[in-house]
Amino acid sequence: MPSLSNSDELIFFVNGRKVIEKNADPEVYLLFYLRKILHLTGTKYSCGSGGCGACTVMVSRYDPKTKKIHHYPVTACLVPICSLHGAAVTTVEGVGSIKTRIHPVQERLAKCHGTQCGFCSPGMVMSIYTLLRNHPEPTPEQITEALGGNLCRCTGYRPIVESGKTFCAESTVCQMKGSGKCCMDQEEKSFTSRQEKMCTKLYNEDEFQPFDPTQEPIFPPELIRMAEDPNKRRLTFRGKRTTWITPVKLNDLLELKTSFPEAPIIMGNTAVGPSIKFRDEFHPVFISPLGLQELYFVDSTDDGVTIGAGYSLAQLNDALRFIVSEQPKEKTKTYHALLKHLRTLAGAQIRNMATLGGHVVSRPNYSDLNPILAAGNATINLISKEGKRQIPLDGRFLEKSPEANLKSEETVLSVYIPHSTQWHFVSGLRIAQRQENAFAIVNAGMSVKFEDGTDTIKELQMFYGSVGPTVVSASKTCQQLIGRKWNDQMLSDACRLVLDEIYIPPDAEGGMVEYRRTLIISLLFKFYLKVRRGLNKMDPHKFPDIPEKFVSALEDFPIETPQGIQMFQCVDPHQPPQDPVGHPVMHQSAIKHTTGEAVFVDDMPPISQELFLAVVTSTRAHAKIILIDTSAALALPGVVDVITAEDVPGDNSYQGEIFYAQNEVICVGQIVCTVAADTYAHAKEAAKKVRIVYEDLEPRIITIEQALEHNSFLSAEKKIEQGDVEQAFKYVDQIIEGKVHVEGQEHFYMETQTILAIPQEEDKEMVLHLGTQFQTHVQEYVAAALNIPRNRIACHTKRAGGAFGGKVSKPALLGAVSAVAAKKTGRPIRFILERGDDMLITAGRHPLLGKYKIGFMNNGVIKAADIEYYINGGCSPDESELVMEFMVLRSENAYYIPNFRCRGRPCKTNLPSNTAFRGFGFPQGIVVGEAYITAVASQCDLTPEQVKEINMYKRTGRTAHKQTFNPEPLRRCWEECLEKSSFSARKLAAEEFNKKNYWKKRGLAAVPMKFTVGMPTAFYNQAAALVHIYLDGSVLVSHSGCELGQGLHTKMIQVASRELNIPESYIHLSETNTTTVSNATFTAGSMGADINGKAVQNACQILKARLEPVIRKNPRGTWEVWISEAYKESISLSTTGYFKGYQTNMDWKKGEGNAFPYFVYGASCSEVEVDCLTGAHKLLRTDIFMDAAFSINPAVDIGQIEGAFVQGMGFYTIEELKYSPEGVLYSRGPDDYKIPTVTEIPEEFNVTLVHSQNPIAIYSSKGLGEAGMFLGSSVLFAIYDAVAAARRERGLTKTFTLSSPATPELIRMTCVDQFTDMIPRDDPSTFTPWSIHVS
Ligand SMILES: Cc1cc2nc3c(=O)[nH]c(=O)nc-3n(C[C@H](O)[C@H](O)[C@H](O)COP(=O)(O)OP(=O)(O)OC[C@H]3O[C@@H](n4cnc5c(N)ncnc54)[C@H](O)[C@@H]3O)c2cc1C
Ligand code: FES
Ligand code: FES
Repeated sequence: MPSLSNSDELIFFVNGRKVIEKNADPEVYLLFYLRKILHLTGTKYSCGSGGCGACTVMVSRYDPKTKKIHHYPVTACLVPICSLHGAAVTTVEGVGSIKTRIHPVQERLAKCHGTQCGFCSPGMVMSIYTLLRNHPEPTPEQITEALGGNLCRCTGYRPIVESGKTFCAESTVCQMKGSGKCCMDQEEKSFTSRQEKMCTKLYNEDEFQPFDPTQEPIFPPELIRMAEDPNKRRLTFRGKRTTWITPVKLNDLLELKTSFPEAPIIMGNTAVGPSIKFRDEFHPVFISPLGLQELYFVDSTDDGVTIGAGYSLAQLNDALRFIVSEQPKEKTKTYHALLKHLRTLAGAQIRNMATLGGHVVSRPNYSDLNPILAAGNATINLISKEGKRQIPLDGRFLEKSPEANLKSEETVLSVYIPHSTQWHFVSGLRIAQRQENAFAIVNAGMSVKFEDGTDTIKELQMFYGSVGPTVVSASKTCQQLIGRKWNDQMLSDACRLVLDEIYIPPDAEGGMVEYRRTLIISLLFKFYLKVRRGLNKMDPHKFPDIPEKFVSALEDFPIETPQGIQMFQCVDPHQPPQDPVGHPVMHQSAIKHTTGEAVFVDDMPPISQELFLAVVTSTRAHAKIILIDTSAALALPGVVDVITAEDVPGDNSYQGEIFYAQNEVICVGQIVCTVAADTYAHAKEAAKKVRIVYEDLEPRIITIEQALEHNSFLSAEKKIEQGDVEQAFKYVDQIIEGKVHVEGQEHFYMETQTILAIPQEEDKEMVLHLGTQFQTHVQEYVAAALNIPRNRIACHTKRAGGAFGGKVSKPALLGAVSAVAAKKTGRPIRFILERGDDMLITAGRHPLLGKYKIGFMNNGVIKAADIEYYINGGCSPDESELVMEFMVLRSENAYYIPNFRCRGRPCKTNLPSNTAFRGFGFPQGIVVGEAYITAVASQCDLTPEQVKEINMYKRTGRTAHKQTFNPEPLRRCWEECLEKSSFSARKLAAEEFNKKNYWKKRGLAAVPMKFTVGMPTAFYNQAAALVHIYLDGSVLVSHSGCELGQGLHTKMIQVASRELNIPESYIHLSETNTTTVSNATFTAGSMGADINGKAVQNACQILKARLEPVIRKNPRGTWEVWISEAYKESISLSTTGYFKGYQTNMDWKKGEGNAFPYFVYGASCSEVEVDCLTGAHKLLRTDIFMDAAFSINPAVDIGQIEGAFVQGMGFYTIEELKYSPEGVLYSRGPDDYKIPTVTEIPEEFNVTLVHSQNPIAIYSSKGLGEAGMFLGSSVLFAIYDAVAAARRERGLTKTFTLSSPATPELIRMTCVDQFTDMIPRDDPSTFTPWSIHVS
């Protein structure tokens, strides 16, 4: 390798401060640099792959050519610091701070309740802020577009979008679009039949500080001077292992490319970066011509447009928009096709980083642009020291054929895209798991040229992405069709030919083989229709139009800005103004979330001597460990130790959970050992060097079916029964039997599991900081692992960045693992799971196989139900038995079935152990009930809603486990939901729509819900609090619940404020820890606010009683005076509060008990539109009516309902975990596991809190943390309704199984048609599929 000069200084600005890095290392990324070097921890790590937006920052650069400053969002996790020379970076800390001034973006996101756990909030702030820097008065569409690359797992996005909309030119916040009324005009309105006052304002816009775009920080003048410096020279940054060179002249670039032909050209780094990070690619030299003027230009001629390779995809988008606005339509068909895909390709951050040159050269097989560029006959302009040349961007180039490739010393200067012509059609087609920010499942670029004035094919091109290792061209098919007329016969031949030419083998990587085969021809059909329509427009007399019923097949679903209305009961006007209970109080940490000042565990400053931990996990599902060879790992620099089972001083296996694998592994992803090193990079590098030799063991059980074959269970059967089921089956009109498969779900909390374990000098004490829902459990496991009493272990939880059940049991195991490492090394251990490890190790929601046998009368009355549940528990007990108990207890949902039996068992398999997840079995289990109701409806020629109505509980009665309840609020929610959503009228309208549209179908479904709160075991429902009043009158509240984003601490402050009759500002809540409140139960089961509220109330009432005599003596005194006087009278100003818990019980032998303190009722109704050709769906509208009794904080409760609904909707539709038949989880990050983004939420999203009584709970409230999850199934059943309409029209069977999730694949393959009939099918016994379902 030619020698290089010494390292240059890297100069850039961060938040207006100059950074001079003398030892810039090309392997260091901006996210790491910000967090660990500059200690700017507002920017968060969540995925590291550019897919979540948590690390969004703004980069600003000065363009000396245009003399303009360009601001754009980037994901800091993919930005090498060396690429930042001359740039200004703005992080959330630079936007605003509590210490100085908060920015309107931060203020409004907080006040609109757009933050819950707050982990995504800095990224959200940066996306909106960057948009405002470029467009101070954005349109609502721009807001939605700007947020497309930011994931939030808590809020459901609606309030985030709404906060952004407050910056739009006109007040677009009005949510009653088209109704002629404005929601803002009606702060209070009579809504229900009971004439209750309902409010719709969750925040007050008048409180917002005005936004003045002129007040933003200026771009550093020094950077302008640097950019304009005529004597700029090449820069070289030499790191430990790699060198980064930034040429500033074209000749220099060409020289470097000759000297280092293998060195990648780094532009956006969105292709190279992930390959280095996740595929272990290594490059000793990087060449980065970012800013090289010759790569940035647009040159428009009469024939086409040439676009510089350095243009980002966002700039390409702007350039094409301009050209489209200038040129006649016929010339711009290729540009239109590109623009369509540019809107949904990744998120705004990636589109601003990725470049045209990088996209074209990296040629990902899923590329959205290359198939269109190829179909549009684009060419690539190359340059090297040898000179310039052009190569076609054609099939051979895309298939990486060596003779069509660029040479290693060549650089792409630009891409030329010719204009389309009159008898020429170009289209881009695409389907992905979600509408935006998801790689295509299959995409295509197609073009056809006709002989002038005819429909005779002169030239045809078809390129497909995601059907093989590269984008492929169907060139033979196209060749054979030349000269043919554009008619149905041609289409039919084309489908046959293309299926012959593009063969996806049955075991192809990525799976979905039959679906992808179907898409190949479905997309072709869409293109065929588009062209026929185009021909008709050109000459209607010569070319007949397509049938009217087919028109809707032409367009993809538009991306709309969501809107909606939220209704809740108004506070009693007589309530004292200082009492915050019932008001939509902002989350107590909201402003800190949005300024990035809320401290999460990994934001805590480094501790002296701390070590980082990396895990080595099993690669086998069931195997004997023959050898663990750690020598190579230990020899690496920075490595301090490798920790294995041998190092566990106490129990390594506790309550069936194994901390470090010993002798045997029982799942892929089980922790075998950990490596402790001075940096995470060193620890990770060493972890890769640990060599483990396995010997596979039998059996290897992955699926529920396999577990049933092997009789492999984690616990005994749980059963409830009423009536005489067998007898009842004899007297019914009809019996149906069926199976429902519900796959699992990943929690995808934005903050991965993170633990800081600090061994203390004295008495074997261990301090742990971690985000958990169950500190007592952590304490217990750490005590067991270290063999010390629990009083030596202190757990601290300030907040968790989302949890959803995933931080109930797993932090205990991970806490034990890290505590053992801390104990062995004697040094603090920082253990931050990477997203991939987190998804692999911690597992999630249990997949379910549900079987049913239902006996019913022809009028829809269900007389008997026999249900069996089997869940995939994974390799250890975790919470599986409890999940099954809950599932069985809640199995009847809202329906009274006189003869009812439900049995369930958790299966033991060789998968990572599944665990608690919001709804705790209910969201899976109840799908079975709704599925058989739907099947009964179909058999009785009734609608599912009619069958639900017929069988729903109507009067006070007893559940199948014999608990008495009054279903009045359930009926109210159900009836109001149907009525207020105009369900019947919209159902009729959907039927009309379906009659007129063959390839798109609408469906509606409403689901009722009877959900439970709390635990059947009474002692789990207890809680404690500790309240101190200090002499200045300020109050410190501690309690046993953990803040996970659900607003628990906010509600507790509201409770304390009411009870002590002091303003909220007097009350502080710092953290949850085991030293102040001991033996806390888990914060789960929707009961956090219920039980802790009672404990806080109890403490406050004790204090208030103690103060009573003082107050009586001086009734006009102030709080501060009373406190001072009480102190002088030696009255204790500190007390614990306690709530014994709801007195629940369950006798499993009898199958009966008062298992739950109360029920939460609700109903939701959703309407979807389905694209039968691709399987895509669009959620048009959702209405939720939730029985909140009296809401302590409507903003928090509505936030929980919306967030849970969106999480549920994701679970039932797009979130799909993929496992290999060997039990390896493939989906380990946002690239291959899709949670909903802002584009998935309902276009219209209305939530109403229904008022009822619940005297048992604090202030007659109800726990609403989980209930919304199941309501997401209304989307699943709406999809079912739409698919049923398609199947009816095609004469297919009435009853069919639509399992969960209803992915695009499932929808498409259930809408059977001529295309699904045409594809080749494989004999399942002849191949091993790439992935399997585990339910
Ligand atoms: C989170 C995420 C989501 C994504 N989603 C999508 C999606 O939905 N659809 C889609 O199509 N793509 C998607 N992508 C891929 C993205 O489009 C490509 O990674 C990107 O276009 C590559 O451009 P870049 O500038 O970042 O390339 P870089 O990573 O900088 O470089 C990539 C390669 O191109 C070479 N190269 C770059 N410029 C030149 C040049 N001028 N001359 C010669 N060689 C050059 C480099 O040597 C390197 O080998 C996604 C990527 C990420 C990270
Ligand atoms: S952490 Fe950077 S995008 Fe997820
Ligand atoms: S608030 Fe968005 S991830 Fe928690």
